[in-house]
Amino acid sequence: MKFFIDTANLDQIREAQDLGVLDGVTTNPSLMAKEGISGDNAVKAHYKAICNIVDGDVSAEVIATDFDGIVREGESLAELHDNIVVKVPMIRDGVKAIRYFSDRGIRTNCTLVFSPGQALLAAKAGATYVSPFIGRIDDISSDGLQLIEKMRLIYDNYGFESQILAASVRHTMHVIECAEIGADVMTGPLSAILGLLNHPLTDIGLEKFLADHRGSK
Ligand code: G3P
Repeated sequence: MKFFIDTANLDQIREAQDLGVLDGVTTNPSLMAKEGISGDNAVKAHYKAICNIVDGDVSAEVIATDFDGIVREGESLAELHDNIVVKVPMIRDGVKAIRYFSDRGIRTNCTLVFSPGQALLAAKAGATYVSPFIGRIDDISSDGLQLIEKMRLIYDNYGFESQILAASVRHTMHVIECAEIGADVMTGPLSAILGLLNHPLTDIGLEKFLADHRGSK
């Protein structure tokens, strides 16, 4: 399973990259706003800065919601760097634009996916990545992981090449469960990735090894 980090914070991206397990980055307009990045030029410069840190796919989201606007923005984002993946919302014109991009070799990430039907449509349109928002589904007392299971089944039934990008991952158990179910990619906060390190028996065991090593001198 690929690990993407879901942030526009350059320090956190560097930290995840330094760990040696990072395969890419996802961002969205909210994450950009959180870092105080606004305006076309600043946003584009920030995407370039991210691409210079990570050697992997970087999702850059369009703001337009009409076909012509999505195509215009997407083409301009894709020109920024070879690793840019154009992130397009799951709306009618978005699906149309995903097909347009796919036919021209521009890679896409279909975002805001909340149902198996939407996931099927995104795959039919040729999306490179399809992003179910599992945390937000959990937030409304439903089961985000079940959506991943259904997507896995549908994509495997027909050999769709779209990759399931589990998004809105909130914590470490989400990461593990996504891996068990067979998500192709998960994108989450740095804390969810670092949480994978933790086990009390590792800490206790290491402490004892080091104490024994000191004692045997
Ligand atoms: O990857 C999608 C993500 O940014 C949304 O996460 O936590 O706002 O639901 P969240």
